[in-house]
Amino acid sequence: MKLNACRNKRMCMFGLSVLIMSLIIAAILGLLAGANSPLTWVLIAVLLIIPYAHKRLSAKQYVEWKNEYSVGIDSIDQQHKKLLNLINQLQTAVDYSTGEEFERDALDELVAYTKTHFTYEEGLLEQNNYPDFEPHKVQHTKMIEHVEEVLAEYEKDQHTAMSNAVEYLKGWLINHINGTDKQYSSFLIEKGVK
Ligand code: FEO
Repeated sequence: MKLNACRNKRMCMFGLSVLIMSLIIAAILGLLAGANSPLTWVLIAVLLIIPYAHKRLSAKQYVEWKNEYSVGIDSIDQQHKKLLNLINQLQTAVDYSTGEEFERDALDELVAYTKTHFTYEEGLLEQNNYPDFEPHKVQHTKMIEHVEEVLAEYEKDQHTAMSNAVEYLKGWLINHINGTDKQYSSFLIEKGVK
């Protein structure tokens, strides 16, 4: 996602702080000089807009459950919601550079729960003789393989590898939940799965 432009949150916050301080100093100097310059008021306006813009941009990093993601089966929806929460937890760990151990714990928890969910979902699909069970399972397997490849990069560049992992997981899970998973909805519901 485009937000990769600012991968290290601490560096971004430092840059933002420097920018704000520079704008404050420039605005104060402008006011001391007589406040007649439109530039001074532009600087003040920018200073007022920055916190709002920053809040909006930060919120975009996080994924939010939407009713349209529902597959109509409560047990699976609950698992999907938990997956999104775990992604947001990992996003926070990456954004705020909370430390290698915390990042790894958040990623391990997400991957472990993803595997648990896949096992549960595959069980339902197989028990109910879902016709597209095999291709669905292949998607799950490839996703886990990809995450493991990303993690193999971890030793070379920890933060980038973790950022790549969270971006990949976010995109993949939303697309999968909202696409492939929905394809089994009516089939399983007709079989009485809740
Ligand atoms: Fe909900 Fe196919 O994963």
